[in-house]
Amino acid sequence: MLSPNEFTRVLENPSERRERYAEMLPAFYSHATDAYRHHWADSFHLPPFQDGQSLPQALAAQEHRLARVAGLRAGLRALDVGCGVGGPALSIAEHSGAHVTGISIVPWQLETAEKRAAAQGLQNLTEFRNADMMALLFDDGTFDVAFSFDAICHSPDKDTVYAEIARVLKPGGVFVGADWLCADGLTEQEYQEWIEPVCVSSALPDVLSLGRMVSGLTRAGFLIDDYCDLAARGDMTPNWEIFERAAETLTEPRPAGRELMYQHCLSTARAGRAGKFIIGYWSARKPTD
Ligand SMILES: C[S@@+](CC[C@H](N)C(=O)[O-])C[C@H]1O[C@@H](n2cnc3c(N)ncnc32)[C@H](O)[C@@H]1O
Repeated sequence: MLSPNEFTRVLENPSERRERYAEMLPAFYSHATDAYRHHWADSFHLPPFQDGQSLPQALAAQEHRLARVAGLRAGLRALDVGCGVGGPALSIAEHSGAHVTGISIVPWQLETAEKRAAAQGLQNLTEFRNADMMALLFDDGTFDVAFSFDAICHSPDKDTVYAEIARVLKPGGVFVGADWLCADGLTEQEYQEWIEPVCVSSALPDVLSLGRMVSGLTRAGFLIDDYCDLAARGDMTPNWEIFERAAETLTEPRPAGRELMYQHCLSTARAGRAGKFIIGYWSARKPTD
């Protein structure tokens, strides 16, 4: 594990974030896993809210919507790319009856996910593996569906991840998800002002724009059925409000971790409110031939 000083140095340097992501991410999630579980939920993604929805309702609605779009049902196999403590994987397995394999680069998240699966009686419909999305440990054509919630942004090369997902999907397989992005058309100065603080405090090597995400998926061979800024599908403001409240009530006992999570919450809420930072959504298919 990186020492606290090394971790800070890696976070502050974009090329180090890219080169040392495999060490940086466990260090980041040694702070962020408990912070999210305590201040957010067991699903670590940012959903669109419909009228009057609570956070748990909005998270579940978003997970079930993506499962529906992907056509998940009993007998199908799905891959959850960047599964956290299993929030979406468990919810989608239970809701759809499909088998879900979740992967994370952070080993102790998988232990939590497995315990949660056992507590919910979902061991037969889920499995959790320590794996890197940059080099998936599955054979070609293993899965009917791949989904990902707010995770690919952590990878140093999103195009490699898209290509890996295309490889492990069966022909005709569906890839749906959401990810942390920046708005199209930001200048380099705007990116540095609004997005770089989010990357530093969230352990993201960089983020793609919505348009760049779509061209990356297309280059990996996917046919795009749908994509948008999730703000087009509901109200994203409650996410920023919850982040701002969490920043004021953080329970993380270690000062360095508390400062990191404080910056994480505030820089994300600030850039989200300004529309510079967005959550992008896509639904895509691997061609059948
Ligand atoms: C923001 S969390 C989202 C977790 C989950 N999708 C959810 O919504 O609850 C991002 C997840 O991606 C995982 N992750 C980041 N980079 C990864 C990589 N290169 N390979 C596998 N997992 C990775 C992290 O360990 C973490 O579990």
